[in-house]
Amino acid sequence: MRTLIVVSGGDAPGINTLIGHYVQIASGRGDQVFGARGGFPGLLSGHIVPVPLTDVLPWMGRAGSILPTSRDPVLSQSGAGERIQEQLRAHQIDHILLFGGNGTLRHIPPLLRTWGIPCIGIPTTIDNDVPGTEISLGFDSACNAAYHAIDGVLATGHALNGRMFMVETLGGTCGRLALAVAHGAGAHAVLVPEFDYDEAWLADRLTAALSKVGFALLVLCEGAKGARTLADTLPQRTAVRMRDVRLGHAQRGATPSHRDRVLAAQMAQLATAGFAGGVANGIILVREGVPVLHQGGLPEGDTSPARALYDRINGLSD
Ligand code: F6P
Repeated sequence: MRTLIVVSGGDAPGINTLIGHYVQIASGRGDQVFGARGGFPGLLSGHIVPVPLTDVLPWMGRAGSILPTSRDPVLSQSGAGERIQEQLRAHQIDHILLFGGNGTLRHIPPLLRTWGIPCIGIPTTIDNDVPGTEISLGFDSACNAAYHAIDGVLATGHALNGRMFMVETLGGTCGRLALAVAHGAGAHAVLVPEFDYDEAWLADRLTAALSKVGFALLVLCEGAKGARTLADTLPQRTAVRMRDVRLGHAQRGATPSHRDRVLAAQMAQLATAGFAGGVANGIILVREGVPVLHQGGLPEGDTSPARALYDRINGLSD
């Protein structure tokens, strides 16, 4: 069998780990693995290369993607289906192993299905916003990267009292990453794009934390209201200096965590077994803590952060 790996959308820690595991298993079965360089635009242009085991092994512990990705929505172009079919025929590809987040996995597998191209999808995004799965590959590593930064920030928080800190995570318009990090770090407040808040309340909450423990920690998602202005407006309300840290793409480029590496190994195993068993339309999801191969498209589901946890962190409930 010949697999083509396509990475589409934002990269995430664990992609290289999964590619490494997949190539290891596939080559052990005598199968061959190829990769599209540059996502679907690369595939349409014929940028298809072999992915030899010896090339991928040194990348298994690195973030990013050994196969460059793309966000360009080229599959909506007319004739895209025929061009992909031609490329797959020319390289004798049997199926596509597709890495991507919510946008990729929602829109691309249905197109591939109409073009008769077998595909198994792997949810890879630090945002953890893919419906139907409890966790996406990369999320755990991105949380760990945030803890690393917060622990550093709080070294000063504890040593030099009287300051407020805000740490901004990635996550786009989905607050799940910020909420998880705020929970794990014991933040005094968390802001996410999905839920509104009052700035006077926030100032009071951070001031109360400062008086009680000597510092205040706010974790917020980049897409939350006020993400670009609070570092200036909160000090005007509290008369306390606010130091802000934006994790940015350093968070997405985090070293894959143990949990993500194990998840990558499990997903690779399920994908190779799925293709060997003739699955033509599937996606790997984590349900009740266990990765499973779901046959069919992306399930419907809510991807908003848990309101009850948000309320608890923010002192809005017990
Ligand atoms: O892939 C998801 C994500 O990392 C979001 O968390 C973030 O908002 C976005 O991608 C950034 O996208 P780009 O790398 O294209 O700027």
